[in-house]
Amino acid sequence: MELAALEKQLRILQSESTAKIEAATSLADLDDLGTSLLGKKGALTDLLRGIGSLSADDRPKIGALANEVRAAIESALKSRRTVAGAAELSARITSETEDATTPGPLPAFGSLHPIPETISAIAQIMGSFGFTVVEGQEVEDDVTNFQLLNIPEDHPSRDLWDTLYLREPGRLLRTHTSPGQIRTMRTIEPPIRVILPGRCYRYEAVDASHGFEFHQVEGLLVDRGTTLADLKGILDELARGLFGPGTRTRFRPGYYPFTEPSVAVDVSWDGSKDGWMTILGAGMVHPIVLENGGIDPEKHQGFAFGLGVERIAMLRHGIPDLRALLENDLRLLRGLR
Ligand code: PHE
Repeated sequence: MELAALEKQLRILQSESTAKIEAATSLADLDDLGTSLLGKKGALTDLLRGIGSLSADDRPKIGALANEVRAAIESALKSRRTVAGAAELSARITSETEDATTPGPLPAFGSLHPIPETISAIAQIMGSFGFTVVEGQEVEDDVTNFQLLNIPEDHPSRDLWDTLYLREPGRLLRTHTSPGQIRTMRTIEPPIRVILPGRCYRYEAVDASHGFEFHQVEGLLVDRGTTLADLKGILDELARGLFGPGTRTRFRPGYYPFTEPSVAVDVSWDGSKDGWMTILGAGMVHPIVLENGGIDPEKHQGFAFGLGVERIAMLRHGIPDLRALLENDLRLLRGLR
């Protein structure tokens, strides 16, 4: 190609390009123009392909002119970008204004986990009979967890409460909330009406209805002239409060070293084969245990009960496997509220 013809085409490219750039209104269009004019496969590169057929003298001239054209296009793009960018921004500012009267998104509501929910339901019912909540301790000693509850060392009944012992001699994770009975009797003068909720541990094979870690709520009442009838009356009310007014209870003889007599309490339950479900153990506080708590059994008598929180949460919410309660799977927990 002729030198003059190529020069002319470069000039035409420059004026056409700047006209197109001036006409562009959006940053996106300007980006496209930049590519189509100056990119590797753009119009300028295309034109300069002809440079090969020019004489060695003419080539630098075209090179210089091409640089000039490129610079002109670049500066046109740059100044147009500033204008178009500002226009886009102010358009967005007017179109995207928030309507301050639109209600905001609702916060997600939390809910109590079924275990504390069940404990507080129990606390509420028992509270209506004057029971207050106190807490024992998760790390207990052998003396309080067993011996003061009339479970001597090497007594076969210890098999009921196989334990996780700590390295420190005589220290263990409590196997039930009953040691709280001793601690309470030693700190509070009768009349005593307390419940003691808390986490317990046992050396257990884990399955759908047994965990090595679980919760109990202990109940303790010590007063003058307390009888088994008082225990029965309160537990009937507790069962009806937890499972509905039509709930029936069944008291069966049971055995615990720290209560005499001892009972096991079942509630009527459609879900089981025989229509009953055991929810707690209870009884009249053994005179030896009263004495160990510093209370004179001639003057005061008491009853105690211990119920399994997971069991009750399972029954109340229809949860088939108590392991679900400690896995904290939000999909399950959300479904339970
Ligand atoms: N501590 C007993 C248990 O864990 C339950 C219980 C408590 C029984 C109080 C009687 C009185 O099995």
